[in-house]
Amino acid sequence: MSRSSFALSQRAHTEMFAARILEQIPSSLLVINQQERVVAANRNFYQKSRRTAETTLGRTLDQVFPKVLITYTQLAGKVRALLHDGQPHEGGKLTYRAPGLPQRIYYYRLIPLQGDDGAPYVLLFMDDITAQEQFQAEARQVEQRLARVVECANDLVISLDPGGQIVTWNHAAECVCGISAVQAHGRTLTAMCDDASRLALAHLLAGCAADPRSQDAVRHAEASLLTADGRCVPIAWSCSPMHDEAGRVVGIVALGRDLTERRRMEAQLIQSAKMASLGVMAGGVAHELRNPLGIISACVQLLDEASDDPVLRSECAERIYTATRRAAQIIENLLTFASPQYEQMAAVELGQVLDAALLLLRHRLLAQQINLTISAAPDLPLVLGNTALLQQVFVNLVLNACEAMPDGGALTLALDHSGVGQVRVRVIDSGCGIAPEHLARVFDPFFTTRPIGKGIGLGLSLCYSIVQQHHGVLTVESQVGQGSSFTLLLPATLRDRDA
Ligand SMILES: Nc1ncnc2c1ncn2[C@@H]1O[C@H](COP(=O)(O)OP(=O)(O)OP(=O)(O)O)[C@@H](O)[C@H]1O
Ligand SMILES: [Mg+2]
Repeated sequence: MSRSSFALSQRAHTEMFAARILEQIPSSLLVINQQERVVAANRNFYQKSRRTAETTLGRTLDQVFPKVLITYTQLAGKVRALLHDGQPHEGGKLTYRAPGLPQRIYYYRLIPLQGDDGAPYVLLFMDDITAQEQFQAEARQVEQRLARVVECANDLVISLDPGGQIVTWNHAAECVCGISAVQAHGRTLTAMCDDASRLALAHLLAGCAADPRSQDAVRHAEASLLTADGRCVPIAWSCSPMHDEAGRVVGIVALGRDLTERRRMEAQLIQSAKMASLGVMAGGVAHELRNPLGIISACVQLLDEASDDPVLRSECAERIYTATRRAAQIIENLLTFASPQYEQMAAVELGQVLDAALLLLRHRLLAQQINLTISAAPDLPLVLGNTALLQQVFVNLVLNACEAMPDGGALTLALDHSGVGQVRVRVIDSGCGIAPEHLARVFDPFFTTRPIGKGIGLGLSLCYSIVQQHHGVLTVESQVGQGSSFTLLLPATLRDRDA
C-alpha cells in the first residue's frame, strides 16, 4: 500500500471512530453550518427529540425546535452571532418537550467549529439536567420547610461555626434575648452567657467541635444567657456537631429551651415541699429549742438564789451564753431552710450544710433510735451552690431514710472526693429498701409508696432537680430488706477554700 493510500485509510478510520464516539455521547449534539442549517446530529438528540435524520438534517433551528423555544432562548440569533464573530457562548438553560414525552430541562452551549473547508460551523451541545434540577428544587423546598420549622419553633435554634460563633439565630432566640439575628450574627455564643455558666457551655461546645466520631452524639448542659436588657435567662442546651462528607466538623447546632417558667414552677413546688417538711420537723425543732431554754431557765433560777457566789455566776453566765447560741443557731437554720430560694450561688462547704440540716433532724433521729455515723474526708473542696437548696436535699434524703427505718436502724452520711473535681455525699440507710420495680420511678414527681396524706412523692424529684441545677448527679442503689444508698455528686468549685 502506497503512503498516500495508507494515510487515506487511517483518516477514514479516525473519522469513523469520531463518528462512533459522537453517537455514544450521552448529550444531544447538533452541528449547524454557515447557512444556519443543521448538518449533523447524534443519536442522543434523535432519541430525546423523537426526530429523525430526515426531519432534522438540512433544516433551520426554528424548523427543528418549537418556535416558542427559539424566541425565549434567542437561539437562532446567538448561532448567527457566533458564526459571525467565532466567540464561544457561555450557555444557558432551556426547557424542551418532544412530542409525546414529558418536558425536560437542558443546559446548552454553543461552541464554534471550523470545517475542513475552513468554513465556520457551530456545535450546539445540550446536556439533560432534568434530574439535577428536580433534586435541587426538592432540596430547596426541604430547606425552606426546615427554615420555617426553625423559625416557628418555641425553642432557641442556633447554628454555630466550629469556633462557636453564631451563624443563624431563630425567632425564638430573638424573643428570649431581645437580640436580632443580624445583631447576633458573628458573636461568640459563650460570651453571651453569664459568668457562672459560661464555662459549662464552652466545655459542651468544645466537646462537640473536637470529636468527629460523635456523629450523632447530642450533648446537654445548662447555661444562662444574658438578654439585651441585662436579665439572665436559664437555658437547657442540647448541642450536636454538623459534619461534611469527610467527617470533619463544619458547625454545631445548639437547641436551647428557656427554663424560666419551669424554674418558677419548681420554686413554688420547692417552697410548698419545704413547708410540708417543716411540718414534719416542727415537733423535733420545738424539742431542740426546749433544751437550751430549760438550761437558761435553770441558770437564771440559780443566779437568783445564789447571786453572791462569783464562781457559780460565771458558770451560769457561760451556760446561758452557750444555750442562747445553740437556740439562735437552730432558729437560724430553720429560717435558712424556710426562706424562699433565690438563685444565688456561692462557694459552700457541704459538711456545714449537712450539719445545719442535721441540727433540724437530730431529735427525729434520736426519737426513732436511728444510729447516725458521719464521716468526712479531710480537705474537701467547696462546691458552688445554694445553701438553702442543698440543705433541702439533705433534709429530704434523711427524712426518707427515717421513713424507711420506723423501728430504728443505722444511717451513714459520708462525704469524700470522687474523681477529679467532684465532691461525693452518700446517704446510706439500713431500712426497708426499694423494690426493683420502683427503683427507676423514685425520682418521678408524685411517685410515693406512702399512704395518702403521708407523702406526696415530691421529695426526691425536687432533690433531683436541685442537684441538676447544681450541675450534679443524684443516683440510688437499693436492696429490699437491706437498705438504700443515695449518692450525690457535685462539681467542686475552682475557688479555693481559703479564698
Ligand atoms: N431511703 C429510702 N428507703 C426506701 N424507700 C425510699 C427511700 N427514699 C425514697 N423511697 C421511696 O421513694 C418514694 C418517693 O420518695 P419521695 O421522697 O419522692 O416522696 P415521699 O417521701 O413518698 O413523699 P414526700 O413528698 O413527702 O417526700 C417513697 O415513697 C419511697 O417509696
Ligand atoms: Mg420524701
